[in-house]
Amino acid sequence: MVHYSPLPASLGGDESIPHNNLAMNASTLPDPNTLHPVAGYENEIYIKPAVKNPNIIVGDFSYIADADFERHVTHHYPFLGDKLIIGKFCQIGAGVEFVMNGANHQMNAVSTFPFYTLQGWNMAPPAHEDLPLKGDTIIGNDVWIGQNATILPGVHIGDGAIIGASSVVTRHVPHYTIAAGNPAREIRRRFDEELTALLLEWKWWDKPTDEINALIPILTSSDLGAVKEKIRADLSVLP
Ligand SMILES: CC(C)(COP(=O)(O)OP(=O)(O)OC[C@H]1O[C@@H](n2cnc3c(N)ncnc32)[C@H](O)[C@@H]1OP(=O)(O)O)[C@@H](O)C(=O)NCCC(=O)NCCS
Repeated sequence: MVHYSPLPASLGGDESIPHNNLAMNASTLPDPNTLHPVAGYENEIYIKPAVKNPNIIVGDFSYIADADFERHVTHHYPFLGDKLIIGKFCQIGAGVEFVMNGANHQMNAVSTFPFYTLQGWNMAPPAHEDLPLKGDTIIGNDVWIGQNATILPGVHIGDGAIIGASSVVTRHVPHYTIAAGNPAREIRRRFDEELTALLLEWKWWDKPTDEINALIPILTSSDLGAVKEKIRADLSVLP
């Protein structure tokens, strides 16, 4: 395996990776069906082409800092039918775990022991009403989930949200909100209401890849007043 580092060799980095793997090259647009966003570096994958489970639905360009994704989704039993839905352009740190509904044992009886999941015990699966099911887990677009965060069953995380490292997310997180801790609590909203509303209307992540590539100066500018103007102008010429 090639170990990749953006640092110069003098600081311990690996300069054998060509520069155009580090910076976007407009002549070769990124392909969302490529497994490795950085050629030669295996410990980061675009999730969509890696997923085989039909109950895991992931949008283009969302990536995880690992060589595998499905092992980060636990207790995901087909007979429960719950889905993990992740939008586009999400950034998922190493060690993140999506805990699905099968993790929640029956709690309305005297024992929580899940006899029905283990061989030899005389128990049919409980009725769904007897299980504390929380529904699908839904992660929006451009969500950044810090490493080792745990996302509990049925949580919804809005577009543009940030989840702090090692957080345990037990409740829904609104769009463009930073949440952290155990249980994860809102630290702050990222933007004012006006910019948040513009971003949710603009939905840059749904544009074609070449347009997104051209929008990078806006998407990465800290001059938020100018960004608002650009988004307003872009929205006003949309059909
Ligand atoms: C959440 C995060 C993005 C920082 O956001 P920020 O707005 O700069 O927050 P600050 O550092 O100013 O901290 C604000 C408060 O949140 C708390 N906080 C920050 N990160 C936290 C975390 N992961 N868990 C619990 N509390 C956290 C701080 O202690 C601080 O609390 P205080 O106001 O009581 O002192 C950062 O702490 C983090 O967790 N980054 C994730 C990094 C990562 O895992 N990357 C994976 C590779 S992509």
